[in-house]
Amino acid sequence: MLRNWYLTIVLERTAGVALHLQLVQAIIQEIQRGRLLPGAALPGSRTIADALSLNRKTVVQAYDELLAQGWIETQARRGAFVSARLPAPMIEKINKAAAPIPDSFVKSLPPNGLSAFLESIAEKPGAIRFSDGVPDARLVPFDVLSRAYRRALLHSARANRLAYDDSRGNLLLRDAIADMLRAERGMSVTNTQICVVRGSQMGIYLSARLLAIKEKFVNEVATSSGCVVMEDLGYPPAREAFASFGVAIEYIAQDCAGMDLDALEALCHQRNVSAVYTTPHHQFPTTVMLSVERRIRLLELARRYDFLIIEDDYDHEFHFSHNPMLPLASMDTDGRVIHIGSLSKVLAPGLRLGYIAAPEAVINRCMNEIMLIDRQGNALTELAVAELMRTGEIKRHVRRALKIYKERRDYAVQRVSELIPSATFTIPAGGLALWLELDVRIDMQRLQRDALKQGVAILPGQLFSGTGRAIPALRLGYASLNQQELESGLAALVAAIQQQFPA
Ligand SMILES: Cc1ncc(COP(=O)(O)O)c(C=O)c1O
Repeated sequence: MLRNWYLTIVLERTAGVALHLQLVQAIIQEIQRGRLLPGAALPGSRTIADALSLNRKTVVQAYDELLAQGWIETQARRGAFVSARLPAPMIEKINKAAAPIPDSFVKSLPPNGLSAFLESIAEKPGAIRFSDGVPDARLVPFDVLSRAYRRALLHSARANRLAYDDSRGNLLLRDAIADMLRAERGMSVTNTQICVVRGSQMGIYLSARLLAIKEKFVNEVATSSGCVVMEDLGYPPAREAFASFGVAIEYIAQDCAGMDLDALEALCHQRNVSAVYTTPHHQFPTTVMLSVERRIRLLELARRYDFLIIEDDYDHEFHFSHNPMLPLASMDTDGRVIHIGSLSKVLAPGLRLGYIAAPEAVINRCMNEIMLIDRQGNALTELAVAELMRTGEIKRHVRRALKIYKERRDYAVQRVSELIPSATFTIPAGGLALWLELDVRIDMQRLQRDALKQGVAILPGQLFSGTGRAIPALRLGYASLNQQELESGLAALVAAIQQQFPA
């Protein structure tokens, strides 16, 4: 709304040209170059007159002229607006000015490999979305959250809390996270081993950056550079975070008990493995939980072959059995695990809160890196969420949401079994998605297109494969959909599948 701002217009004040005509010319130029958009409200004549040190009559005269020429229109008691009905060639010209053709700089950037994933998870107006496992943000206790924000704001005003703060995050939140990790995740951590980040994605990115820095340093003395190992099926933005720093990635297979550690050990004989990135609690995207035996062996391999484990514990709160598995970090005795967690699933992804739990030296280095990216997080959100953690509100919300998600999981399991009997899947013990393996004859790309036409967006397995394998499977996030939405989504999916098997 331009009226809320001081509109800066520079008049050339050309000698010999009347001031009102100079103002007309200046406003036409701003419309033509896409700065004043069709329909935009223009400041009142008095405001412009004050701002440009003109007589108000001069401005009124200029507006009358613009009105007569069709550049602006007026509405009774609402003032003047740039005409919403400018001729089509003019609009085209404006659009071109607003979106210039990408220059050689942009063209020279190599693609980063995330396009298909981003395109697939993007909002599809009017379509039901089977996400990659997002929570239902409609369940967030907004009244409780808004009271916590209000108190955080008042507290900030009293204690000057909106000034620059610790790059590792607000101490109250780091304390609350350390308490939670000690109580619920069996980890022996204190606030100096915690760093708050804007979502676990930033934690992954920081870990990738530290690895890349280390590799660069090591390469000066070592002959072979280290690599990071991931399961072939994994979380694309994690993959791209490592790739973006030029860290070499090796993919290994996985089975129904998680990562294939024989394959990992064989790889350790051939290559210098610097780190293993893994989602042991609910493997992304297959939902499998890494067995205890494999956890113990993975930690042993880390010691023997001297690599780090980057543990992405992205949705551990939503586990439906009574005994959620404790993270690798809780069994780590020699500081090899960088544990990354998130509050995106617990509260809402839009709050952008996550954390890294790691040895103090790693956290201190993260602190330096955060200084380079955004200095620190959002103090208000950190204070509000710290309070919700301290008072147990978050735990109460998780308990409520867990009940709803378990009902949704059970319903999804039942309906998928009934509607797509050819699909095979393991009922996940936790997490917010199913991994459906479909009839191998199905062309998944076609299915994605047909499903969208039927009104449902799906995520085919190929999106998650580091090696780009075509996989007749899909990740079906159920938690963000109520029963009605799930029914509509499944009906559309079934219709799309049937198109490939005409009777
Ligand atoms: C496996 C995995 N890791 C990391 C993330 C990033 O989560 P956030 O950055 O919102 O904490 C997600 C998000 O869905 C995920 O599925």
